Order: sequence, then C-alpha cells, then structure tokens
Amino acid sequence: MSTNTNSGNLPDIQELQTLANQLFKAQPNEDIVLPEYNPYDATKPPVSVAGSGVSPSGIHHGNAVNLQDPQTGFNDPGLNASIQPVEQDLGRSFLPFELIPDSLFHLPFQQEQPFEKQLQQVLNGIVTTPNLPQIPLTGFGTDPAAYYFLKDKPAATLPGFDVNFIRKDFPILSENVNGKQLVWLDNAATTQKPRQVIDRISYFYEHENSNIHRAAHELAARATDAYEGARKKVQGFLNAGSVNEIIFTRGTTESINLVAKSWGEQYLHAGDEIIISHLEHHANIVPWQQLAAKKNLTIKVIPVDDDGQILLDEYVKRITPKTKLVSFTQVSNALGTVTPAAQIVQIAHSAGAKVLVDGAQSVSHMPVDVKSLDADWFVFSGHKVFGPTGIGVLYGKEELLNVTQPWQGGGNMIKDVTFEHTTYHNAPGRFEAGTGNIADAVGLGAAIDYVTRIGMGFIAQYEHFLLEYATGLLKQVPGLRLIGTAAEKASVLSFVLDGYKTEEVGAELNKQGIAVRSGHHCAQPILRRLGVESTVRPSLAFYNTCAEVDLLVKTLHGLKK
Ligand code: ALA
Repeated sequence: MSTNTNSGNLPDIQELQTLANQLFKAQPNEDIVLPEYNPYDATKPPVSVAGSGVSPSGIHHGNAVNLQDPQTGFNDPGLNASIQPVEQDLGRSFLPFELIPDSLFHLPFQQEQPFEKQLQQVLNGIVTTPNLPQIPLTGFGTDPAAYYFLKDKPAATLPGFDVNFIRKDFPILSENVNGKQLVWLDNAATTQKPRQVIDRISYFYEHENSNIHRAAHELAARATDAYEGARKKVQGFLNAGSVNEIIFTRGTTESINLVAKSWGEQYLHAGDEIIISHLEHHANIVPWQQLAAKKNLTIKVIPVDDDGQILLDEYVKRITPKTKLVSFTQVSNALGTVTPAAQIVQIAHSAGAKVLVDGAQSVSHMPVDVKSLDADWFVFSGHKVFGPTGIGVLYGKEELLNVTQPWQGGGNMIKDVTFEHTTYHNAPGRFEAGTGNIADAVGLGAAIDYVTRIGMGFIAQYEHFLLEYATGLLKQVPGLRLIGTAAEKASVLSFVLDGYKTEEVGAELNKQGIAVRSGHHCAQPILRRLGVESTVRPSLAFYNTCAEVDLLVKTLHGLKK
C-alpha cells in the first residue's frame, strides 16, 4: 500500500476503500462520499455524537433522562405499574393473583410479537384458575399482629396464593442435588431468580445491549431507557422522592464503602463518634473501622440482649454531641432480628446525627418506605431480592448526595473536564463513574416487578407464617438451640445442635438436597455475643414450603452420632 504524499504517513483513503471492498468481495462504490470531518470546527454540529461523550438523552434533557419521553419506542409496561405498588391502589395489603395486572411481567415489545397475544391468553388461563388452595395461617402460637412490620394482621387464609404455582417461576428449584430435589434454605446468602428476571437479562443482551448515555444510536437509547427505567422501579420500590436518590452500585458492601469513603472522608473529623449495633454484618463494621483508624474517630456499639434484640436505652446512653453517624441493620443476617429501625433513626436525628440503614436482609422480606423511615442512606443488594449478583443500590437524600464529594472519578460523573479543573454532575451520575452493570440493573428492575406483583406485604405475611411454623418444629428437635430468639424476626433460623459441629449438620442436610449456610455468616461479633463461633442457618423466602421445612426437621431428627 502506498501512502498519500500530501499527508505524510496517512494512508490514501481511496486505496483503503478499494482494499476494503476487495476484502468484502464487493465492487468499489463510486457514490460513496466520505464526510469532511474537522474535529476542531466547533461551529459545525458533529456528524454523529457516538463516542463523543454526549448522551442522546443529554442532548434533549441536560443529561437527565426523561422517562416520560423515552428516546426509543422500546416501551416497558412494567415501569409505571411498579411505581405504585398494586396493593396500595386497591387499599389492601396483598392481592389475589387473579387481580394482579399481567402487564407487570411483559418484556418490552413483547406484546408486539405475533404469538404473544395467544401465549398470554394461555398464561392468563393458568393464572386465573379459580379455587387455588388456601393456606391456613392461624394456630402457631405467636400473635402475628405483634410484628410491627406486618401492616395488617394476616387473614386466616391467604386467598389465591399457591406457593407451588409461584415455584414454577424458579427453574433452579427443580434442580436435583445429590439425587434429591433441591431445597433452597440459603436465602439470606442469596435468593434464586425467577425466569422473568433470567429472561429479562437475556432479552437485554439480545435486543438492547449497548453502553448508555453516550451514543447517537438506537441501541444506546434502548439500553439507556432500560437502565433508567430500572432506576425508576427502585425508586418506586423504596418510595424514594426522586430517581436522583437512587445510585446503582455493586451491592450493599460497595454502597456502605461509598458512603464511608465519600461523605465520611469529607465530613467526619478527629474525635467524632460513629454508633453501630452489635448485630452488624462485617460490611457495616469494617469500612467504619478503616475510617476511624484513618481519622481518629470513635466507634461505639449498641448492645443486644440474650435474644439478640437491640437495647434502645443503651443506645440512647451512647449518643453524645460528638455522634455524627448511626449505621445499623434493619434485619440481622445471622439472627433474623428485626430492629426498631424508625425509632433508631428518629433518636439519631434528634441528636443531629446522620443515619445509614443496611437493608440487605430486609428488602426481600417486608415493605420498605424510605420516606417514612427517614434514613439518610438506605442500602441493599439486588441478589438478595431475587435479582442478579453484582448490582446493588445506595439510596440517599438528594440534597445530601449533592453536597457530598464523589468517591470514584471517571466518565459519566462529570459535567466538564479540563486539565486544570473538573465539575461534577449531581446525583446519581456523580456517584456512577465508568460503565456500570447495565444489564443487571435491568434484571433488578425485573425482580422488583416480580415481587411487586406478588406484593411485599403479602410476602411478609406468608414468610412470617412459615417462620413461625419452622420455629415451632425446630424447638422440638432434641439438643437444638436456636440462636436469635427476638420477638420480631424475619426469615432466619440460626441454630446449633448438641454433639455436632455446624459444618457436619450442613453436610448431612446437603445429602438430602437441603442447602443451608453454616459458619459465622460474616457477623462474628454477634455470634460471639451469644456464645458461639458459628451456627447452622436455614433462611426462608416466599417460595419455600411447609413440606421443605418438614424435610429439614425430619432430617435433623434422624441425625445419629
Ligand atoms: N451476607 C450474606 C450472608 O449473610 C452473604 O450469608
């Protein structure tokens, strides 16, 4: 290949065209006119914004995506439906399946596929099958109305709920393990995914995949709309005031680290005090310890009683004028204790402290309303709420986020960069440097559609019933000691068994296909407080059944040493 003598070492454009056409076995097209491109002529609009750092949404909306005016016809019918939980619309805590709008489960464009209407009719026929079994919810001892997070006293039955029907949405629940059908009781570690979430992620990669916010083409617009649509779903799920309060992260751990390394670095000073509780997961201990070591802060711990319940009077005693932050979990991952979150937040605020609530173990078990909780930050992981791994959320009050320095610097989070100075976007872009986990954010949106369709209030009631059922039976196993016996609990049934190491119990259960976690559950301080180094930890979700609990209990009864 010769070079164009007029432009030094640049290849001749004509030769390149000819070569390219030969390679693709096509004739040179004389009609092709290459556009003149002068990157330094700011008076002309660019030929394309692709790769220029300009978002198609940005061109029209100043980089704030307007979901009322999506850039593509790729309409997501689940979007607006999940903003207002269906149960609120009808003024009740849960809905029978037949009253739940099916549109919540549609993939974008799905209705436009030729077979879709017919398929939907078939599915509707299944969904609306009358006389679904009724699950009795009474007779297990504890008064369910005592649980503050249950908005309504459970009815004697949950009409229209068929757990076996729901289980069909979770392909992995049909998996065989050691020749037995899988019994997944490790939901506190991660939850299984309904096919609606799996399909949504595949659909994204098949029809929408692109980087977001910075290109001029259709797929970028589809991906941007899908990603920002997921943000809107999270906003509705948490009842946050604005989409700008929802930041996508890698998970709970990253969300807490983000707050520690941005707000904490900026606003905490030597001598300031942070209060955490004895129940915390290591993810809500270590980042604060690291910060405390660096900045000479003091960490104080709210103690718990022998049942694993927060001692509120001890908490109040620990508050001083130097208290700048209270960071605590809404549900303990190791014990299942539900903490009096609203009270803790209120007390912290009355002392002028900011509050972070770790919702990793609560969002999948009870309705969460960040407005009424009034926490300054609320964090959770997608994979614990039937969504994918590698995606999580930091909710923060908008005005607070916008006066907090960014944590990571890079693309997407800037308004303008020169070599001398950079200005940042407001939240959420401010805290989303680089290319995020786009597909899994969209998958999380689908998971939120899924649980919203069932109703979080309803899920809380069913799981509460299952927890009571399992607790009653486990107490009858000789030598079994429950670790964590708070009056208000969610999902978790930690225990130790006389004469057995926890890993031995886990291995025996695994032989029956039963998956539980044994170990310290990344919460060593609380287990040590209750006198153990590890526990066996079955943990429940709404797809678990009494039959699965029965198998767990029967296997424990059958253990012989
Ligand atoms: N934090 C997760 C658990 O509790 C991994 O198991």
